[in-house]
Amino acid sequence: MTSTRVRALIESDVPDILKIEYSVFPHSTWTSNSFQTCIRSKSGYAYGIFLKRKLIGYIVLHVIIPEAHIVNFAVDMEYQSQGFGQELLSYIFKKLKKLKIKSIFLEVRVSNAKAISLYKKFNFKPIMIRNKYYKNNNEDGVVMALFFNGLLPK
Ligand SMILES: CC(C)(COP(=O)(O)OP(=O)(O)OC[C@H]1O[C@@H](n2cnc3c(N)ncnc32)[C@H](O)[C@@H]1OP(=O)(O)O)[C@@H](O)C(=O)NCCC(=O)NCCS
Repeated sequence: MTSTRVRALIESDVPDILKIEYSVFPHSTWTSNSFQTCIRSKSGYAYGIFLKRKLIGYIVLHVIIPEAHIVNFAVDMEYQSQGFGQELLSYIFKKLKKLKIKSIFLEVRVSNAKAISLYKKFNFKPIMIRNKYYKNNNEDGVVMALFFNGLLPK
């Protein structure tokens, strides 16, 4: 059985994060400094999933209770579609529920079927489209939301 560990990211993880970031998001605008800032910030919430001590994925959220925003989420290409993304998201959900988070938001490219399928599995619903949000190819973004009480706000 593969054994993984999820833990909070620290500043010395950033070089490994960047290797994954630039291979999965060729047009990423995130820099070393962006990750360092999230790791240091009080409202930043950054966790990594490790397999045999190797970083294979990470998630970064911006948390302002009772709301959370997933601002970055990736699994190393080599380890995708093997359940690790789901494992990381489940871990984070348990943490967020303890923090009394009531809603989680994220944005995803309309063409990103893999991620959208994963988010739907976790009961995220599309709530709006942001036209031409992704500047490299003018692709639309879907804003998805999860409300823990199951109700959409009026
Ligand atoms: C999106 C991402 C984080 C998901 O992590 P992952 O480890 O690959 O996903 P998992 O193996 O945990 O898959 C969980 C679910 O995702 C969906 N999924 C995974 N691989 C898929 C594929 N090849 N095609 C369609 N759906 C897929 C399925 O719903 C799957 O559930 P299932 O196994 O019950 O069918 C990862 O694929 C990734 O880093 N993608 C590139 C970066 C990205 O798109 N990040 C999100 C930006 S918003």
